[in-house]
Amino acid sequence: MRNYGRTRSLVTGGAGFLGSHLCERLLKEGHEVICLDNCYTGTKENISRIIHDSSFEFLRHDITFPLFIEVDEIFNLACPASPIHYQFDPIQTTKTSVHGVINMLGLANRVKAKILQASTSEVYGDPAIHPQREDYWGNVNPIGIRSCYDEGKRCAETLCFDYFRQLRLKIKVGRIFNTYGPRMHPNDGRVVSNFIIQALKNQPITVYGDGSQTRSFCYVDDLIEGLVLLMNTGDDFTGPVNLGNSEEFTILQLAEKVIGMTGSTSEIFFETLPQDDPQQRQPDIALAKEQLGWEPKVKLEEGLTHTIAYFDTLLRKAST
Ligand SMILES: NC(=O)c1ccc[n+]([C@@H]2O[C@H](COP(=O)([O-])OP(=O)(O)OC[C@H]3O[C@@H](n4cnc5c(N)ncnc54)[C@H](O)[C@@H]3O)[C@@H](O)[C@H]2O)c1
Repeated sequence: MRNYGRTRSLVTGGAGFLGSHLCERLLKEGHEVICLDNCYTGTKENISRIIHDSSFEFLRHDITFPLFIEVDEIFNLACPASPIHYQFDPIQTTKTSVHGVINMLGLANRVKAKILQASTSEVYGDPAIHPQREDYWGNVNPIGIRSCYDEGKRCAETLCFDYFRQLRLKIKVGRIFNTYGPRMHPNDGRVVSNFIIQALKNQPITVYGDGSQTRSFCYVDDLIEGLVLLMNTGDDFTGPVNLGNSEEFTILQLAEKVIGMTGSTSEIFFETLPQDDPQQRQPDIALAKEQLGWEPKVKLEEGLTHTIAYFDTLLRKAST
């Protein structure tokens, strides 16, 4: 049964950072949205603004278990994304990426839905090629502490392409690079949230290594636009496609920017680099430009302004 021409979208991981923004965006476009989440890192607070929308439904469920539901498209975002969270229970992380995607691909196949898999730049590991293009196969440690996530996501991509080749499923694979913005988890140890919180508390800012490693930072609104455009591409376009901001900053530059923008008295401290931390990470987004007509628009300063304001409010609430 189709619902009077409205698209029914399932967003797994919909109560998380990216998922909650995506749910809001899809509602604005007139979709019916089913947000599925086991609330491992996501929260109901993230979806508090939309929870009472009559086109929105929250479903507490773990994607490692099968699900039967009628939908037209599936955005599969469920998976803890920060090292602290995905290393807390690495077996569950692999299960979420592998069993979880099998369940979602099976569902998509049954109801003939399109499925978009939220993959990651981590599939490139510690890349030997810079910037990373989609045809680079990566340099990943299969047995390290990050492998549950990196290899889990690689296997999820493999499964997507096997369902595409074997069963002609409509798949889209987006490789997401470092994304930041309001509703990032405050304790997830990711560099942008870490620096902002440390700066707002005037605490020492921890930089791992000498801070010369580079990252690119994509603002959440840009990323969500990319995901929506990717889902709406023709059935012949599967990806994988990089989605990220190609402007590169060193970690030290980011720390200095955050200190400046918050007017903080924090000082920078250097600590040992964790295992398998990549030196460079920068997407080549030529394919996204060509196929989706997409490129990030939000400058780092602007995105940081919104993100700093979000964490400032969060910290004030916590202290009252
Ligand atoms: N944010 C980034 O920079 C980034 C970069 C690359 C890839 N990604 C990918 O995008 C997706 C969303 O990331 P995010 O930053 O919003 O992370 P997040 O941790 O905020 O969101 C993940 C959500 O998935 C839920 N979840 C985890 N395991 C689940 C399970 N087994 N069943 C149901 N729900 C489950 C969590 O509760 C959470 O709400 C992830 O798949 C992640 O790998 C994100």
